Amino acid sequence: MRQPIVAPSVLSANFARLEDEIRMLNASTADWIHLDIMDGVFVPNISFGLPVVEAISKIAEKPLDVHLMITQPERYIEAFHRAGASVLSVHAEASIHLHRSIQQIKSFGMKAGVAINPHTPVRILENVIADIDLVCLMSVNPGFGGQRFIENTYKKITELKALIIETESHALIEIDGGVNKENARKLMEAGADVLVAGHFVFSAENPTAVIRQLKEMA
Ligand code: DX5
Ligand code: ZN
Repeated sequence: MRQPIVAPSVLSANFARLEDEIRMLNASTADWIHLDIMDGVFVPNISFGLPVVEAISKIAEKPLDVHLMITQPERYIEAFHRAGASVLSVHAEASIHLHRSIQQIKSFGMKAGVAINPHTPVRILENVIADIDLVCLMSVNPGFGGQRFIENTYKKITELKALIIETESHALIEIDGGVNKENARKLMEAGADVLVAGHFVFSAENPTAVIRQLKEMA
């Protein structure tokens, strides 16, 4: 069976010991480090911003997968590139000129991702899917870690996979929210490529072991 790209979400890390948490991820089998940026407008929560991403990028030895949950994300694309993002995802619901934002992200050499909320149909990606490197399917309503996985996501993965094949897109399918060892294998079987996990990793007694479990689908 294919192994997932595992991207632990720092949202559930202990921010008072952030350096230790990032060094733990460096030493683990995690592939990417997922960073959730929330503005208190697009989502009902505020997380952290550019200075924190920049500080993390100085010690992180893995690509930073930055998920912007902010309105008009095009205002900050260059800034997140400078702060060290390798993968940058904007929400389709927050971007009026989504096509332009995607081109902007790619112009800085980053991988371009588009995130969609649980209620947003996959088919709205039809006209951009060939241009993007990643689709982040939200499997919870964005804003908070530790929420319950929404089962309808499996159907969306199947639809998205069909769209990707039909358009010969190389986009990876990332699942964000409520991922754990109970659903990881089923998500991979449905067609997922990248698994984001926050609460499941950081609430564990041994986060490194949990990351390995997710990677090996054990
Ligand atoms: C939710 C964030 C997620 C979150 C996932 O708005 O986008 O990345 O950290 O966390 P868990 O795995 O705890 O659902
Ligand atoms: Zn996220």
